[in-house]
Amino acid sequence: MKRIFEPVEIGGLKLKNRLVRSATWEGIAADDGGIDERTFAIYDELSRGGIGLIITGFTSVAGNDRYFGGMMRLHDDALVVQYARLVDLIHQQGVPVVAQLALGAFYREDGRQTEPTGMTVEEIELVERQFIEAAVRAQAAGFDGVQIHVAHYFFLSRFVSPAVNHRTDAYGGSAENRARIVVEILRGIRREAPGLHVSAKVNSDDFVPGGLNRQGAMEICKILADEGIDSIEVSGNGTSVAGVRPGRGEAYFEPFAKQLAAETDVPVILVGGLRSREVMQNVLDETDVELLSLSRPLLFDPEFPHKLESGECDDSGCVSCNACYSTSEHRCRIRR
Ligand SMILES: Cc1cc2nc3c(=O)[nH]c(=O)nc-3n(C[C@H](O)[C@H](O)[C@H](O)COP(=O)(O)O)c2cc1C
Repeated sequence: MKRIFEPVEIGGLKLKNRLVRSATWEGIAADDGGIDERTFAIYDELSRGGIGLIITGFTSVAGNDRYFGGMMRLHDDALVVQYARLVDLIHQQGVPVVAQLALGAFYREDGRQTEPTGMTVEEIELVERQFIEAAVRAQAAGFDGVQIHVAHYFFLSRFVSPAVNHRTDAYGGSAENRARIVVEILRGIRREAPGLHVSAKVNSDDFVPGGLNRQGAMEICKILADEGIDSIEVSGNGTSVAGVRPGRGEAYFEPFAKQLAAETDVPVILVGGLRSREVMQNVLDETDVELLSLSRPLLFDPEFPHKLESGECDDSGCVSCNACYSTSEHRCRIRR
């Protein structure tokens, strides 16, 4: 029987419990990807709050990616020193940390955003190289792993989606072809940064006409599982569902995560609307899901894992209002 608070080892990562901080973009990095005291303070607080594993906010692999503002970046060796400081302060609390590697969108040198269908094979290979080199930098900075962001209609999520990718070559058409870019990134990371935990965050459903439905998403996940990816975090478009409360609408991607964990050997991380001890324990009891991932509850209270463990509370006070998306540093408006 799995418990929330018990040590667990997943793909080489040693966690003190099954709670994960899901990637949460702070929006405060400099244009060149530089990070300052505000970012260090956020991660210092998180790492002291009792969480088992931290996944950073999305970290762009490209210097000219301007899909969102204030993105962290790992496109340049000069950034390694700053990110090493971030890793160090998290490690001081005995918490492993994974860098979420992302590309919001692909921009040509002239600044034009180009979607998967219109890209040349050389451009696809450039993106693959950017992900692999960012992973090498992440390893140099001391990160325990990387998570490839294949969810939320970020670039790779659009690439694997039949609603967006209409290529007719080896990178389009079948699930195998649409997933090829992710597989090649994964293999490249294995080759050039051996020993890193490599995870992927995926859409269990694109929720758009012609996009990945559950079956299509399962095909992509199984390809990654067959490649030996170390973990898959199950999400979906419409990632942060509003209005979730303890006992109301929790664990909204659980059915897909349950199926994925049952049909593959890959360790599955469930994210999305986990708010109560009861539902979290139920997920562990009734599925083969290994880890439980939280974003908004930790914006509401970074100490939530400690408080849950000590019995000081059973539920998160997060009301899933999503105001955090529009505040400075994505802080919680009603935070204690
Ligand atoms: C302010 C904010 C920033 C987020 N940034 C990211 C991100 O950088 N990468 C990502 O994959 N998901 C991001 N998410 C989505 C969360 O990781 C998570 O999947 C989603 O909020 C559902 O989990 P929750 O109910 O625990 O918040 C963000 C969510 C919020 C609220």
